[in-house]
Amino acid sequence: MRAPYRVVVITGASSGLGATLAASYAGSQTVLGLIGRNPERLAATAARCRAAGATVFSTALDVCDGEALAAWLIAFDREHPTELLIANAGISSGPDPDTAGEPAETTLHQIETNLLGAVHTIAPMVPLMSGRGRGRIVAIASIAAYRGLPYSPGYCASKAGLRAYAEALRPRLAPQGVGVTVVCPGFFSSPMTDRWEGPTPFLASGERAAGIVKRGIDRGRPRISFPLPLVFGMRFCDVAPAWLGDMILRDFRFRIRST
Ligand SMILES: NC(=O)c1ccc[n+]([C@@H]2O[C@H](COP(=O)([O-])OP(=O)(O)OC[C@H]3O[C@@H](n4cnc5c(N)ncnc54)[C@H](OP(=O)(O)O)[C@@H]3O)[C@@H](O)[C@H]2O)c1
Repeated sequence: MRAPYRVVVITGASSGLGATLAASYAGSQTVLGLIGRNPERLAATAARCRAAGATVFSTALDVCDGEALAAWLIAFDREHPTELLIANAGISSGPDPDTAGEPAETTLHQIETNLLGAVHTIAPMVPLMSGRGRGRIVAIASIAAYRGLPYSPGYCASKAGLRAYAEALRPRLAPQGVGVTVVCPGFFSSPMTDRWEGPTPFLASGERAAGIVKRGIDRGRPRISFPLPLVFGMRFCDVAPAWLGDMILRDFRFRIRST
């Protein structure tokens, strides 16, 4: 186990995995930078972390606003050099199961938030962290990054892009002393999953998922993918002949209710 992270920045800290990770890093020695859109939910996470002794700076920001996000991250980093940066903010939606394709607006919104939002989070921090020669960057992708699922084209595209982006950064940043962890979770309980109607095999509790992610980050693991049966299943569908993967996934019906 490495020295505990003292300065931690998390996007999507107002809910679900991000909020639980924030609380689990909170302690008397930690400074947290918390980002989300909803000010009330963000304030609730901040209050929970302060109660655990952490110094907390939070801001209601949209990760799609790259300029504002970079300005906040850089200003925060000037006072509190970031040791751990977790790009976690994300959304999920999908087309109505009875329609063909996915409306471009739905696809693009997910790519803008899940992929470009993560790039807006990570890119401005790379020169600062690599300049100091230490720290870790974490990208929260999904097992949906391994193989396109018919019920959520835009989500899968955004997470596959994020996974590839972070995997590409890892060997680039390793010589600079900055670690990169790519997280590909299966289903876990959160306000996001509450809106999904369909099978969620091997669903983990939010606490359990956050525990797996935190342990992996603290051990400096390059990849955290779970649960194994789903990871193997998705990877099999990817390496199998396309017709076989398509046949397995074709009838997997799923509806994602919008907020
Ligand atoms: N739940 C699962 O089964 C599952 C599985 C694999 C991967 N993941 C990924 O894990 C991450 C966390 O998901 P979760 O289940 O914890 O979902 P969640 O409870 O809905 O939390 C998502 C967080 O992202 C924030 N967010 C969304 N769009 C944003 C934007 N444009 N700018 C800033 N913040 C934004 C939300 O902020 P506001 O609430 O303030 O809008 C919220 O804090 C996501 O990247 C998700 O794709 C989830």
